Parts: sequence; C-alpha cells; structure tokens
Amino acid sequence: MNHVAKKANLAVFVSGTGSNLRALYKRQYDDSTWPVAVTAVVSNKPDCLGAQFAGEAGIPLFAHSPKEFASKEDYENNILSFLKEQNVDYIALAGYMKLIGAVLLNAYPKRIINIHPSLLPAYPGKQAVQDAWDDGASVTGVTVHYVDEGIDTGQVIAQQPVAVAGIDSLDELYTRIHEVEHQFYGDVLGQVVAQA
Ligand code: GAR
Repeated sequence: MNHVAKKANLAVFVSGTGSNLRALYKRQYDDSTWPVAVTAVVSNKPDCLGAQFAGEAGIPLFAHSPKEFASKEDYENNILSFLKEQNVDYIALAGYMKLIGAVLLNAYPKRIINIHPSLLPAYPGKQAVQDAWDDGASVTGVTVHYVDEGIDTGQVIAQQPVAVAGIDSLDELYTRIHEVEHQFYGDVLGQVVAQA
C-alpha cells in the first residue's frame, strides 16, 4: 500500500529580512520528500520584511511586539495559544532576535531549533559575521543548534564551515553565509524531523 507520511508542522520565528523563512517556505514546494511543512510564522517586529512575506504568502502569522503584553510570560503564552491553534510540532528560529523563555521551552522540549552564522561557540550574539570578519578569521560558518535559555548556547546539531579566504568584503561574506544557510537549514531540519 502506498503510504504518505504526515509532515511535521513548522513555525518559523523572524525579526528581520526573513530570507531563511523564504528558503524554507520554498523548499516545501520544491522538494516533495522534505518531511516539513511551514505552517506558521511568528514575529516580534510586525513590520519586518519576514512578517510582510508571511502576510503576502498567506501563512498564518502572529506578529506582535512584546511591548503589547504585560510580561514576557504573557507574550509567550499568547504565542503558545497561536502555535497550538496551528498544530505546530517544531519551531525554527531564523533571525529571531529575542531570547526564548520558559513558557515556550517547556512546551517544545528539544523542538526549538536556531540557525546562527558562525561556528559556535565562536562568535555568539547578534554580529557574528561582522565579528568573524573583524577578527580576521580564516574560517567561519553556520551552526544549527537546539535552543536553551542562553544566547546561542544550546546543543549543536550540525555545523558547516565557510572559508573566508578569497572573500573580499564583509558584504560578500554575508552573502556567502546566507547562501549556505538557505540550503543547510532545510537539510538539517529535515534530518531532525526524520530521525524523531
Ligand atoms: C541569519 O544569518 C541568521 O543566522 C542570523 O540572522 C540572520 C537572519 O537572516 N541569526 C543570528 O545571528 C542569531 N544569533 P534572515 O532574516 O535573512 O533569515
């Protein structure tokens, strides 16, 4: 009998450009064997390009500043209600620049994943590509890791190095890192879901 496995429902969290969101969203149409469906987007910056893309694409969207809520707990409880409505199985942070708190960590144990543009533990934080460039690193890269309560500290799932040699500017390094991320994040998320 032909059996089509149910795909895992993924919520992508964004705060900025959303190029990784776009790559993940596109992949579900380009690769029918990918075991993931992007079924929800969360943004703490309602006007960011990532949130705009979700609106245009018709992906269910929770886009609210945490300032609209009485506390971080209240903010995350509202996100959690939205995720439950959308039957979300996994969360992928993609340039989401807020720390995840206890409400979401407890609701999605080992199911919240982040992509970071360095070979962690090198260059954590918001300026990882610039920090590697300013440091004159010969190799940097991309890390996909489970999220814990720290900043870019959770258990590493997979890493891909990117050579800096031959790259002439910081802009070119950003472009190269993004190119790698757009393929690698989908690959690793697919592996995580397939192995669960
Ligand atoms: C990505 O390069 C991602 O790795 C990085 O933000 C960028 C978002 O780009 N995340 C971090 O630095 C997390 N500490 P995008 O909005 O175009 O996907």
